[in-house]
Amino acid sequence: MFTLDCDRAYLYAHPERDLTADEQSRYEAALAERARGVPAQYITGHQEFWGMDLIVAPAVLIPRPETEHVIETVLELETSDVRPQTSAKTRGSEVRRLRSEVRIADVGTGSGCIALALAKELPDAEIHATDISAAALEIARANAARHQLEHRIQFHQTDLLAGLKPDFDFIVSNPPYVGESEEDQVQLEVREFEPRVAVFAGPKGIEVITRLISQAQAALRPGGWLVMEISGTIADGVRGLLDGWQEVHIASDLQGIPRVARARKPRG
Ligand SMILES: C[S@@+](CC[C@H](N)C(=O)[O-])C[C@H]1O[C@@H](n2cnc3c(N)ncnc32)[C@H](O)[C@@H]1O
Repeated sequence: MFTLDCDRAYLYAHPERDLTADEQSRYEAALAERARGVPAQYITGHQEFWGMDLIVAPAVLIPRPETEHVIETVLELETSDVRPQTSAKTRGSEVRRLRSEVRIADVGTGSGCIALALAKELPDAEIHATDISAAALEIARANAARHQLEHRIQFHQTDLLAGLKPDFDFIVSNPPYVGESEEDQVQLEVREFEPRVAVFAGPKGIEVITRLISQAQAALRPGGWLVMEISGTIADGVRGLLDGWQEVHIASDLQGIPRVARARKPRG
């Protein structure tokens, strides 16, 4: 499909189709790349996330299916969470008006997958996306343009939340969370081909999250939510760091591995 730039139906419909010499050599070049371990997504330049086709390149982490749980969590909280200034009697249009003011920050946006999915699902939300990597932000911007969402997301090259105006309703992140001490347990493809700054957080794996929790504490409005992707290795550490937050919950992914941590900033 990649070599011929066609869909699967075309392959089934044209089993007799021979490759031209040029197509054959492109196919073999792609196979050779794959054989030396390059992830298929970096060869084709594409990965699907939340029903969207995203451009990926070695400057960004390849979006993973388990990160879709982060989106599900935010949507569930956004739907059930009525903002504090909304009275119990408020109904209908006013709830929608207040909800439309929701401000979200996606920290470490990479390909932009989380920010884009939330922009698609929450058409009135104000969305900010940060990354420390200029090259990653370039790809995130290209993905936003590709899905006509470029006017919906404000991109910032910064360290976590530095310089952003506070009072967010949601701070959402899939931060780097692998420890350098567990490097030899990481798949070769990830270690060798995905950006180090996207994967490794420091010796223990919890270093970036530690700073993120403290910055989120300052940048969230009272009652706002922090939603983060984590791994089983650091789940206990994350729970400890969220001491003093409310409604702390760590949900597992489809493999039963602790994956999405959520916590609410106390109301005062
Ligand atoms: C695990 S990747 C996640 C990418 C994307 N959000 C996703 O879910 O696929 C982590 C991202 O955080 C960025 N990052 C690492 N340290 C950062 C920091 N101190 N401030 C902002 N972004 C950072 C990396 O460049 C990378 O794009």
